[in-house]
Amino acid sequence: MHSFDSFFEPPFERIAEDLSHRGYSVIDCALPDNMTLQLAQRLLQLIRQDDDSMQVAGIGRGDQHSQNRFVRQDKIRWLEPGDKAEKAWLEYMSELRIHLNRRLFLGLFSYESHFAHYRPGAFYKKHLDAFRGQANRVLSTVLYLNNHWQTSDGGELVMYNEDNQLIENITPAYGRLVVFLSEEFPHEVKPAQRDRYSIAGWFRVNTSHNDKVDPPR
Ligand code: OGA
Ligand code: MN
Repeated sequence: MHSFDSFFEPPFERIAEDLSHRGYSVIDCALPDNMTLQLAQRLLQLIRQDDDSMQVAGIGRGDQHSQNRFVRQDKIRWLEPGDKAEKAWLEYMSELRIHLNRRLFLGLFSYESHFAHYRPGAFYKKHLDAFRGQANRVLSTVLYLNNHWQTSDGGELVMYNEDNQLIENITPAYGRLVVFLSEEFPHEVKPAQRDRYSIAGWFRVNTSHNDKVDPPR
């Protein structure tokens, strides 16, 4: 079914185990090397194009959408299957979705994701990706595309538990994938000394009812 070469075993089962035990997972070298490389190159290409490919990120969905420089300062671009590297990523995540649904009965229905570029000094203040009861984003993912990232470069993803106690500082290292339950973990992005590159994404359940659709983003 999937197109990975025989040397690469996707870490889907480890992610399922981690999610069921503690609600989040941190996986290094999560993708085949060439896939990570092509995504990193694609993001750099979009940034260099300098044609408004990358947009100032907002907060909130639909009518609630707004831009707020005090909350987040990254530039983003949503991934689309029209590009080869982007398509490979969306297919990989679709396979993860199928695996997690089979193992954990999460009922994940769709996946949306965007490239993100944080300039030096840019941050994203502590937030939750979803709010309880609003059954929208169920699972958050972040893949990091930063070559040779040093601890001293900063830019950590800081994870908190439901009581807002710090649980882990995660370095945005090249090829590292973080997956966590969107409603349970407040988190923030610390400012970095360098440009910081990633792909953030969310699995959603289907909250459409009757003829009222509930589009992602
Ligand atoms: C987000 C987010 C974390 C990161 O985009 O919602 O929290 O480490 N990103 O980039
Ligand atoms: Mn977030």
